[in-house]
Amino acid sequence: MAEAPKPAVLRITLQGDERAADTWETLLVSPGTELLRVADPAAARAAEPSLAVFFAPVDGVGAVAEEVARLGLPSTLVLGGDHAHPHTRLLHDLIQAKRDWQGAFDAMVDPIAVVDRRGIVARANLALARALDRPITTVVGADYRALLGSPLPPLADPIARGLEERVATTAEGRYERLPGVRQVTVSLLETDGAVRGVAVELKDVSELREQQLRLHQSARLADVGLLAAGVAHEINTPLASIGLRAESLLRSAQDPRLAAIDAFKNFPRYLATISEEIFRCKRIISALLEFGRPRKQEVTASDLNALATSAADLVGHELRVRRLALELHLAEALPSIRADQGQIRQVLLALLMNAMEATAPGGHLAIETRVLPSGRIALTIRDDGSGIAAADLPRVFSPFFTTKPVGQGTGLGLAICHGIVTGHGGEIRIDSRPGQGTAVTVELGPEGPPQGPGDAA
Ligand SMILES: Nc1ncnc2c1ncn2[C@@H]1O[C@H](COP(=O)(O)OP(=O)(O)OP(=O)(O)O)[C@@H](O)[C@H]1O
Ligand SMILES: [Mg+2]
Repeated sequence: MAEAPKPAVLRITLQGDERAADTWETLLVSPGTELLRVADPAAARAAEPSLAVFFAPVDGVGAVAEEVARLGLPSTLVLGGDHAHPHTRLLHDLIQAKRDWQGAFDAMVDPIAVVDRRGIVARANLALARALDRPITTVVGADYRALLGSPLPPLADPIARGLEERVATTAEGRYERLPGVRQVTVSLLETDGAVRGVAVELKDVSELREQQLRLHQSARLADVGLLAAGVAHEINTPLASIGLRAESLLRSAQDPRLAAIDAFKNFPRYLATISEEIFRCKRIISALLEFGRPRKQEVTASDLNALATSAADLVGHELRVRRLALELHLAEALPSIRADQGQIRQVLLALLMNAMEATAPGGHLAIETRVLPSGRIALTIRDDGSGIAAADLPRVFSPFFTTKPVGQGTGLGLAICHGIVTGHGGEIRIDSRPGQGTAVTVELGPEGPPQGPGDAA
């Protein structure tokens, strides 16, 4: 059986009015056409087009037509500015119809593509071109696999499923070359029962997922906080009496008469350890109590730059011991924030401690403040330390999550920071790359008029 002849590429040259040519270019772009802008009819002929299109002013149509005839160009379309000629009208109506759906297609916020059976993008909207950061002319006609890159596990390419197995699906995940988490909806395009290709929608759901995650995290933290506060309270009382007894035993054990007895020789040392460990437990418990029931906030107009500077001063000695450099990049004329200064200072110190602990000698830390376009104020603490493993990232705000050796970290630092910042109506976010460093950003609202009757002083 003879193979069907391959459809030839339709080469179209465009000449004349630039704006008209622009419109045509966007309208005609498709896998089967090659568009060339030319300067004059002679250049059009040299390009050997299947069709030469000229845009001429109404009174210039005649002259262009003569030139075209003189050069002997094969298929030619000379379009004037009015619609008197039926050819121009027909074309105008066809173009208008295409422009209508293309306009609707392009007005959609979510990236959309029509992919043919071979995997070639037959149509795409501007949102897709924007998301891929490339001109629409290089999107249409390209292989979708080359455009989007490989699907990143666990996403199994739903477009391939649509094309190969003829199933319409929705899946969520990432593609190598398309930023963000995408909800991919694949619908089958059928004509007379045969699948011609698929329509693909690639909705960006990154923001939504992140919000859900944060909501989930806040809810979990609130539960744990309540629980922790209860348990801490229960433990606090017996711990206090154990501590008192240990201290008085320690005093008695220092009696030289006891020290003379061999069996009692180690008592002062053991009792000192017991006292110290109880003291450590009490520190953890008060941190827990603070976390569960943040003390009443004393909110005042506060200068975040000044708080950052004083936190930097406080860790100055520690920085020198660890041989770390700290730079401050503070925005000028930063609006003041409504905040409990003690609590915010506590947050800054906890974040600086984490950054220092993650960074090897010779490393760099920075504190940066800036006003966001939303009017909110952001403070970022950056380090070029160890970074956080991707698997750990969702857990760092959880109480007791720590990667530090036993006895060195309580794992409450970030949980408390989270409680304080959200208690201020703010947000705290972490960006981290293992081996490269971490940036923790705290976003707070500027000092504004009271929020409502409940907020009145
Ligand atoms: N800047 C950072 N760089 C790398 N890892 C970090 C950073 N900040 C936090 N982490 C990770 O998050 C974990 C939790 O931090 P968090 O401050 O809550 O507790 P911690 O520092 O381990 O203990 P504590 O704050 O009580 O000393 C840390 O153990 C560490 O693995
Ligand atoms: Mg910490």
